[in-house]
Amino acid sequence: MCGIIGYAGKNPAVLVLLEGLERLEYRGYDSAGVALIENGRIFVEKKVGKIRELIRSLWGKPLKATVGIGHTRWATHGEPCEINAHPHTDSTGEIAVVHNGIIENYRELKEKLQAQGIQFTSQTDTEVIAHLISLYYQGDLLEAVIKVVPELKGSYAFCVITSREPYRIVGVRYGNPLVVGIGDGENFVASDIPALLPFTRHIIPLSDGEIVDLRIDSVDIYDAEGNRIVKEAINVPWDIISAERGGFKHFMLKEIFEQPRTVGDTVKGYVSRDYLLPFNLRDFRRILILACGTSYHAGLVGSYWMNKYLQIPVEVMYASEFRYADVPVNERDLVIAISQSGETADTRYSAISAKEKGATVLSLVNVMGSALDRESDYTLYTHAGPEIGVAATKTFTSQLAVLYSLAVSHLPDRDRFMEKLSSVPHMMEEVLGEAEQIKKVALKYANRKNMLYLGRYLSYPVALEGALKLKEISYIHAEGYPAGEMKHGPIALIDENMPVLVVAPRDRVYEKVLSNIEEVLTRRGLVISVGFRDDETLTKVSKDKIGVPEVDEDLTPFLTVIPLQLFAYYIADHLGLDVDQPRNLAKTVTVE
Ligand code: AGP
Repeated sequence: MCGIIGYAGKNPAVLVLLEGLERLEYRGYDSAGVALIENGRIFVEKKVGKIRELIRSLWGKPLKATVGIGHTRWATHGEPCEINAHPHTDSTGEIAVVHNGIIENYRELKEKLQAQGIQFTSQTDTEVIAHLISLYYQGDLLEAVIKVVPELKGSYAFCVITSREPYRIVGVRYGNPLVVGIGDGENFVASDIPALLPFTRHIIPLSDGEIVDLRIDSVDIYDAEGNRIVKEAINVPWDIISAERGGFKHFMLKEIFEQPRTVGDTVKGYVSRDYLLPFNLRDFRRILILACGTSYHAGLVGSYWMNKYLQIPVEVMYASEFRYADVPVNERDLVIAISQSGETADTRYSAISAKEKGATVLSLVNVMGSALDRESDYTLYTHAGPEIGVAATKTFTSQLAVLYSLAVSHLPDRDRFMEKLSSVPHMMEEVLGEAEQIKKVALKYANRKNMLYLGRYLSYPVALEGALKLKEISYIHAEGYPAGEMKHGPIALIDENMPVLVVAPRDRVYEKVLSNIEEVLTRRGLVISVGFRDDETLTKVSKDKIGVPEVDEDLTPFLTVIPLQLFAYYIADHLGLDVDQPRNLAKTVTVE
């Protein structure tokens, strides 16, 4: 989704804004722009396409402004083009706005403004904000913003500057993320933390309804009515190196390779019980896991572990389905909301609604200070560091580590289970050591149009996750399915042109999955398998096999998912696609 960056300091704002914008690229975008207060006037430059286009058009311009705002746009209202790119200005050109989110009542506001003779230049919902601020402006930008906010419906964050007060940026968070960065004689505002890591690690995440008045040497935060709020900055533990590519061709590849360390870091905290929760999971009538996308797949794996070890009903639902599904929830339920970003609108709003119905909400997030973190009763962190690739990889395995730790937390021999979990990072290293062989297998299938991914029991969510990775970054249609369900429909798709990737570790359903493989072979399907290295039977029935070290059946997802991540990565890279910023996708989905 769109990304916002703002700077007020002593250095050339354009350099800070461009660096921040590059670090927001991963959120997904189609155009970018900046607005600077240059010699008492607003200077705007915007371009369709990559940030480098914007850099090219700014090249050689002697820009000295030390206050400005920047934006990456992911089109919602109005096609991607220069006119619709942000920043947007009012009719006088003295006010400039950047915005992330949707103003739901923009048509109504636009008509009202047009009736007063105001001309619109873009098709965006954002432009109404610039005109409204202009209408209410009487010499104080903060006051004008406080008057405008109650008129706006929807979920949004925006930042505004005016040449009439060239030293300040006013920012608002209402549903969409906005964080403030505190520097030394300079201050920042951005949609998320990685954009600010080159400049500061002292961060104040804004809450919904809060407004920041950011100046070169001060940061003041207000509620929607204009009352001052005192908020402490948090020190984020992430460093700038963790948000760099570090020699890898893509962030996704780096993040796949980071997994032994990130899972290790996550496990450490849970082995030492750093997290202690003030309740026993078995005291609840049921556990309901809510999440989207990859986090949902992690939740599915977690539900198998929890059903097995907690012996209470554990259900998993897409957060986007839960919210409107009349699911009965009450104070005897524990809702586990899983979200890497902690900002996914569907997950946040379903967690809030479960909380309103009396459930206890425990969230698993990767971003400290994110909305879900603040809105939940309890939070557990996944400690994976910043994940920049749009396709989630390392956060999936860290989520698994937390879920497994929770599932076994009450067992008398918990330490034995945690010891087994602690041995996983080492085995993940071994799987990564096979990357070249995985690449060879992957490239054989790079020109396919369709693929089926099968798995059963714990390997079913892994198959779903593998198929999602392939779809997301290589644009090859892939369907994840429970292996046992294949005969109930998808078997009709199988012929000599259909590659079927089967996740088949030697676990409780292994024999059944071998039968499913036979069903595929009988119909001349091409079987690619991921299973234990020494499994000769699997080797014999597969056209291509990727081996992982033998491990306790509980822990197989940590290992079997890695070949699937790499399989998707190598195909997408071979096809010359934009692995880290796949088309149409946003890293953080802040709209419902
Ligand atoms: C995963 O590769 C996707 N980018 C996407 O499905 C993602 O997992 C989903 O949007 C949920 O995000 P969250 O974990 O930040 O809530």
